[in-house]
Amino acid sequence: MRKTIIAGNWKMYKTLREGQELVIALRRELYQIEDIDIVVCPPYTLLAYLADALETSNILIGAQDVYWQDEGAFTGEVSPVMLKDIGCKFVIIGHSERRQYFGETNESVNNKLKAALRHNLTPIVCVGETLSQRESGKTFKVLDDHIENGLKDITDIDILKIVIAYEPVWAIGTGKNATPQQAQEAQKYIRDLLRKMYNNDIADTVRIQYGGSVKPENITELMSQPDVDGALVGGASLQIETFAEIVKKAAEVKK
Ligand code: 13P
Repeated sequence: MRKTIIAGNWKMYKTLREGQELVIALRRELYQIEDIDIVVCPPYTLLAYLADALETSNILIGAQDVYWQDEGAFTGEVSPVMLKDIGCKFVIIGHSERRQYFGETNESVNNKLKAALRHNLTPIVCVGETLSQRESGKTFKVLDDHIENGLKDITDIDILKIVIAYEPVWAIGTGKNATPQQAQEAQKYIRDLLRKMYNNDIADTVRIQYGGSVKPENITELMSQPDVDGALVGGASLQIETFAEIVKKAAEVKK
């Protein structure tokens, strides 16, 4: 049984005050939810404050990126040591927006992944194809590339600590989610890749989230798919009503 994980990626939204209001409301709404991982990933400027505000709650905190060195002259970067220090548990790595706008490659993803693991942060590694890649029949090829190269040299022990997020780029922020069947097909493909790279036990243990226009209206059907173990939620994680409803509905899906 894989534990459901619902994570909110706030992207570049929320001032400190707005973030504080949101997590206070989330604590109140979600304190009774058990047996699933609930994660919020605010911008760096809010992390330390919100980690404090969420202490002793059932909501965990994650960052949206990390650099791979522990410290040094790397202006603008944040290290895994710093994230760990303020109470971060998770970190998103290789989000398509970082690949698209900030030059993230499989190689940098791989370096960041290893750095996060070295410091006991749980990486959420994002993979997924663009619209033109899907339309030209390259979806599985892109997944091969992201998984095989992004996870290069990750050991049997470490792969179990990683969460994979399948986020088709064409479904991000567009309101047009992948159908549950499309998500299932891609996520089964990813799991089968893990079967080949590792073994059946490992493939059956690693959690794979779906991300891309997840909303209260589609979470139940997405979560009902055998290889969908959770969601990485963008826009709908910015409002208390929608994120709380997504978490509650996901918690109700029994497989
Ligand atoms: P949306 O839920 O806004 O489509 O964003 C998905 C995403 O990119 C989460 O990382």
